[in-house]
Amino acid sequence: MQKDYKTIELTTLYEISKILGSSLDLRSNLKSAMRVLAEFMDMKRGTVALKKDGEIAIEAAHGLTGEEIKRGRYKLGEGIIGRVAKLGSPIVIPNVGDEPLFLDRTGARKDIKKENIAFLCVPIKFKHEILGVLSVDRLFESKGISFEEDLRLLKIIASLIAQSVKLYREIEKEKEALLWEREELRRELKGRYRIDNVIGQSDRMQEVFESIHRVAASKATVLLRGESGTGKELIAKAIHYMSPRAKGPFIKFNCASIPEGLLESELFGHEKGAFTGAISSRRGRFELADRGTIFLDEIGDLTVNLQPKILRVLQEKEFERVGGERTIKVDVRLIAATSRHLEDFVSQGRFREDLYYRLNVVPVFLPALRERKEDMPLLIEFFLKRFNEENKKDISISSDALRILVDYDWPGNVRELENTIERLVVMSTDKIIRPANLPLNLKSPMIKEIPLKETLKASLEETEKHRILEALKKTGWVHARAARLLGFTPRQIGYKMKKYGIDRVSQN
Ligand SMILES: Nc1ncnc2c1ncn2[C@@H]1O[C@H](COP(=O)(O)OP(=O)(O)OP(=O)(O)O)[C@@H](O)[C@H]1O
Ligand SMILES: [Mg+2]
Repeated sequence: MQKDYKTIELTTLYEISKILGSSLDLRSNLKSAMRVLAEFMDMKRGTVALKKDGEIAIEAAHGLTGEEIKRGRYKLGEGIIGRVAKLGSPIVIPNVGDEPLFLDRTGARKDIKKENIAFLCVPIKFKHEILGVLSVDRLFESKGISFEEDLRLLKIIASLIAQSVKLYREIEKEKEALLWEREELRRELKGRYRIDNVIGQSDRMQEVFESIHRVAASKATVLLRGESGTGKELIAKAIHYMSPRAKGPFIKFNCASIPEGLLESELFGHEKGAFTGAISSRRGRFELADRGTIFLDEIGDLTVNLQPKILRVLQEKEFERVGGERTIKVDVRLIAATSRHLEDFVSQGRFREDLYYRLNVVPVFLPALRERKEDMPLLIEFFLKRFNEENKKDISISSDALRILVDYDWPGNVRELENTIERLVVMSTDKIIRPANLPLNLKSPMIKEIPLKETLKASLEETEKHRILEALKKTGWVHARAARLLGFTPRQIGYKMKKYGIDRVSQN
């Protein structure tokens, strides 16, 4: 009998340890373990309660309904389970019916008086840490039996459960850390400012993006500064479309593009008969931009007599049409741009200081392309994609050609790059853009870098000699044909052959 018990006990332990290691679903593992235990012991109910947030709650059970499990929550020190969880040593209640401490919190033991039920409760401990409590309702026939064997088995099972809980929690912690990391990464990526169709991963452009993100929502006047082709207009539009005025109009006006005499009526409109040719009244750009944004490009070219009028619109939001009496009120946000050194204009008296300060509320400096070379591969990729789509082509660029493009200074900035890529895509007959396809002006700086003029001359001569020889071989040494091939006159080829010491005899 004794041996039988040992065998069954070992089998139970083996089964339970197998179950606990079977999956990462702790709750279902524990539930299965309780079921195996119930089969072995004459056990009516079995529960595993785990400590969490200063409380202890049933995690899995055998012989309890879902509702009963939910009710199984105890404060530390409360009831038997709470006490075991607090003190960390087992408690055996030989007969539940006689025990006033017994809470029956779950409400599962309505039959308490009719049956003989012992309640065995052992802590689930990992080293010195109390993780929870394993408890069992044990049915027994007669009073006075010892539960020592049961207790010993439960302690072993509790230690198996402890290891499993610990492992599970470590994994959960790791998972959480990973999730957190991913979340942080996501936030970081989101923190990187993005604006549709504006390329700029470089720090300089990220600063620009950051300030326009910040300023877009307001009505503040923005002054965009930067060389030609750096994207001033693109950014002006981005600000408008990121602002609450996005649904309103975006009106662009280039102060340098219109003869001085027409500027005022273009900006502020005119009444019928205001001047010869004013056959009807007309609204100006400021009126058209009402509830939207007006973009004044090349503001530095604004004539001195118009500057006070712009100042007035900025300050009073009002103006009169040319030849008109009526004061017109508008709600307009102004974005101005200039590639000029406005401060010089101010000191020369060409630009009013008060207007300068009024415009300079939020200055945004767009870096030249050569100052943000790290954006170039992205820009090139962006333009290649666009022009490939427009031209229904699939052209890529070789890495050495890319290198040359990145090395170039791009005085015309993004616009020049954009035009160059478009031309390359349109003209290319090859699938790949190689250095040979690039316009000469892009490559010339590299030639300039060769230190000695002599070296350059020598290498050019070497190349020329080689080309002449090839042409002569191809044409069977007929000088006139070779000359035609190379675009020389027969006289020129004769002269060059003499210069380079080329004759048929020495070649054979
Ligand atoms: N960061 C960028 N990403 C993508 N395209 C850009 C970027 N910057 C400029 N571009 C493109 O380059 C061209 C020139 O930009 P834009 O007209 O805005 O420059 P600009 O500063 O107003 O130049 P200009 O002073 O000559 O008027 C446009 O086609 C624009 O779409
Ligand atoms: Mg522009």
